[in-house]
Amino acid sequence: MGFWASKAMLSAVELGVFTQLAGGSRSREQLERALGLHPRSSRDFLDTLVALGALERDNGQYRNAPDADLFFDRAKPSYVGGLLEMMETRLYADWGSLTDALRTGLPQNRTKDGASPFDELYRNEASLRSFLQAMTGVSLGAARAIATKFPWENYRSFIDIGAAQGACPVQIAQAHPHLRGGGFDLPVVAPVFNDYVAAHGLQDRLRFHPGDFFNDPCPSADVLIMGHILHDWDYDQKQALLAKCYDALPTGGCLIVYDAIIDDERRHNAFGLLMSLNMLIETPGGFDYTGKECCEWMTAAGFRDVRVEPLLGPDSMVIGIK
Ligand SMILES: C[S@@+](CC[C@H](N)C(=O)[O-])C[C@H]1O[C@@H](n2cnc3c(N)ncnc32)[C@H](O)[C@@H]1O
Repeated sequence: MGFWASKAMLSAVELGVFTQLAGGSRSREQLERALGLHPRSSRDFLDTLVALGALERDNGQYRNAPDADLFFDRAKPSYVGGLLEMMETRLYADWGSLTDALRTGLPQNRTKDGASPFDELYRNEASLRSFLQAMTGVSLGAARAIATKFPWENYRSFIDIGAAQGACPVQIAQAHPHLRGGGFDLPVVAPVFNDYVAAHGLQDRLRFHPGDFFNDPCPSADVLIMGHILHDWDYDQKQALLAKCYDALPTGGCLIVYDAIIDDERRHNAFGLLMSLNMLIETPGGFDYTGKECCEWMTAAGFRDVRVEPLLGPDSMVIGIK
């Protein structure tokens, strides 16, 4: 019954509870008016959020818990609620037919047989922006860890392949002023990437490279990054993407692959395994993978000194040198 708590949190983010309370504590009646909550529901809903640790309550006044304030106030750069907004609008319903996915092996969204799931996601501006913002939510922690754990002092340039809004390039560029870089993604992503980069004042150092990584060559840089890319695609497509990155790198260049990489025994990283089931629900052939599998694929593509390094929580990066 864990989904009860999940859904309460998803609705709280959708309603803007935490954004509203970022401005200061409010009474139940004030929150009813501000959020459009029915008096019958508000008491149980708000006190559920207190019991879940997302809100605090003193003398009838509600306020954000510190972590909810940091991560779920839409106005803060640390906002990761875009991910929860996407769960609310799409994945919560799609996961309702997990059993069908398990029986048929087919995606449970509106992706047509064999089509790229991104065609459907990018069908209109709102859905495009919502998905790309959700990617920032899923990747911000890993991006910060990559910015600190990788030896960036040995390199001068980098490009994030499939960069979405640009969370990873922005974190790296902020932490390492000597680096220039960018993001490669489908042309339709350009304005969203450029807005995000400009909002962080990094437009002079981070450039958008438009293209399709199945039909165009990847742009070149000392370091290429693929975050949450390989898991979207089937085995042959994964191999093709690794080969394409290898071709684009200079000798001595480096590829960083990061995902919720599953432990080699496939026993412990429940998030990574659930993410792989999510790929079943969302994509025609995607799946997540262990560190050992990724090392084998990268070695077969020509990379040397391939190694896995943990990042944060369920995420790890696999690093290989050309
Ligand atoms: C799951 S998202 C990951 C985004 C980001 N790397 C992260 O980890 O947050 C996959 C990204 O790949 C991009 N993408 C999908 N198909 C692509 C293609 N054929 N060529 C270039 N980029 C593509 C999408 O637009 C999206 O930004």
